[in-house]
Amino acid sequence: MIISLMAARSANNVIGNNADIPWKAEGEQLLFKAMTYNHWILVGRKTYEAMGRLPNRKYAVISGSCEEKTGEDLCFFKTIDNALKYLSNVTDLVVVSGGGQIYAGMISKVDVIHLSVIHCEVKGNVFFPDIPKGFKMVFSQDFKSNIDYTYQIWTK
Ligand SMILES: NC(=O)c1ccc[n+]([C@@H]2O[C@H](COP(=O)([O-])OP(=O)(O)OC[C@H]3O[C@@H](n4cnc5c(N)ncnc54)[C@H](OP(=O)(O)O)[C@@H]3O)[C@@H](O)[C@H]2O)c1
Repeated sequence: MIISLMAARSANNVIGNNADIPWKAEGEQLLFKAMTYNHWILVGRKTYEAMGRLPNRKYAVISGSCEEKTGEDLCFFKTIDNALKYLSNVTDLVVVSGGGQIYAGMISKVDVIHLSVIHCEVKGNVFFPDIPKGFKMVFSQDFKSNIDYTYQIWTK
């Protein structure tokens, strides 16, 4: 199973402020929507509650306090390891999609990082973890928008 991670961070490394993402870069989320269409998304309980469910995506939600249950397009797991074990039997790709705790727990385990760097400095209290040594940026493209952003791909 390929484990992919998708995130957007500000220039000062913020990914969230409480439950919100504190910017609106028009067009940036189209990439996330395209890359996750019909795929499994791995998210923390707080992100799941804040973001709700996009149609045509399957969700594996991590919550230490949940009752584990599996279903066709929505599963709850107590640990990341339980989720990965289950998903590896039902899919070839999972997209790790936040938030901060899940990125921190997963970044050293993923195969590829899709990162949008948003060209703004914002106040926030949830941050993107350091990209581990061993990853290198293999693609970078700048986009003009109401807030400019750079889309990067990092691989091991
Ligand atoms: N910019 C982006 O790309 C992006 C993407 C997604 C989210 N976000 C932002 O990220 C923020 C939310 O991130 P967050 O760090 O506060 O929360 P989170 O990672 O979404 O969820 C945290 C919760 O997930 C569960 N969890 C996390 N790691 C676990 C583990 N190893 N084992 C068991 N359970 C675990 C726990 O649930 P229980 O408390 O139920 O045990 C924990 O409280 C929001 O501001 C959101 O807008 C940004």
